[in-house]
Amino acid sequence: MSEDRPMKERIALITGASRGIGRAMAVELARRGAHVIAVARTEGALEELDDAIRAASGGRGATLVPLDITDGAAVDRLGAALYERFGRLDALFLNAGVLGENAPVGHIDPDKWEKTIATNLTAPYRCVRSFDPLLRQSVAARVVFVTSRAGRHCKPYWGGYAVSKAGLECLAKIYAAECGTTTNIRVNILNPETSAIYCFWFLTIHYSLLVIHCFYSPSFFSR
Ligand SMILES: NC(=O)c1ccc[n+]([C@@H]2O[C@H](COP(=O)([O-])OP(=O)(O)OC[C@H]3O[C@@H](n4cnc5c(N)ncnc54)[C@H](OP(=O)(O)O)[C@@H]3O)[C@@H](O)[C@H]2O)c1
Repeated sequence: MSEDRPMKERIALITGASRGIGRAMAVELARRGAHVIAVARTEGALEELDDAIRAASGGRGATLVPLDITDGAAVDRLGAALYERFGRLDALFLNAGVLGENAPVGHIDPDKWEKTIATNLTAPYRCVRSFDPLLRQSVAARVVFVTSRAGRHCKPYWGGYAVSKAGLECLAKIYAAECGTTTNIRVNILNPETSAIYCFWFLTIHYSLLVIHCFYSPSFFSR
């Protein structure tokens, strides 16, 4: 393992890689040597990400996957395709999310509720379902669920988003317990919120530290 590329030959899949936190994480992991599989719906933004990854990693490109993660059958097909191509997955960053509608519970539009739960909770479950066999082929797999403090605070008007993140944390803990010590999979929950409220440069440093923490330390939950 080289000093400047500690993630060399590691394969990392990031959902919601086209912008924001997922994009920053994708570039950072590539800079550290990982081969990034970048998932999002916006093709143009994924292509721009590929340029940024090449610039950060000395010319090595990413695998771009334009995909709606709420399409469970497509997520299953991706799992099969990745098995064919790579045979394993070393890191899974379940980051894609939507805010949904901030409104009193009785006023939330049912379609927006469904979309929020589908994106923030059901899609991560479908990803775990499809990629767990690949993670089990890794010598040291890491799974990161991106949450929000909204999931714990139950604040008024945060309806679908807060419920989805509370469910996501529960899902992560259950999966971590199931992985236990008998597999090479370690599961983490990451809340980027506090950093994001402050400034971008601090946020960038913070994410770099979190990358190190999530991928090189024992899991918060897996024993
Ligand atoms: N930013 C914050 O302050 C903050 C605080 C707490 C928690 N978080 C959490 O951190 C994560 C990332 O937040 P962010 O601020 O970076 O979000 P963002 O800038 O809005 O980016 C969201 C990402 O998710 C992708 N995405 C959304 N729906 C998708 C779908 N159906 N299929 C595939 N990709 C989809 C988007 O890509 P496309 O539109 O191209 O598909 C985009 O890449 C979220 O889970 C969020 O809840 C963020």
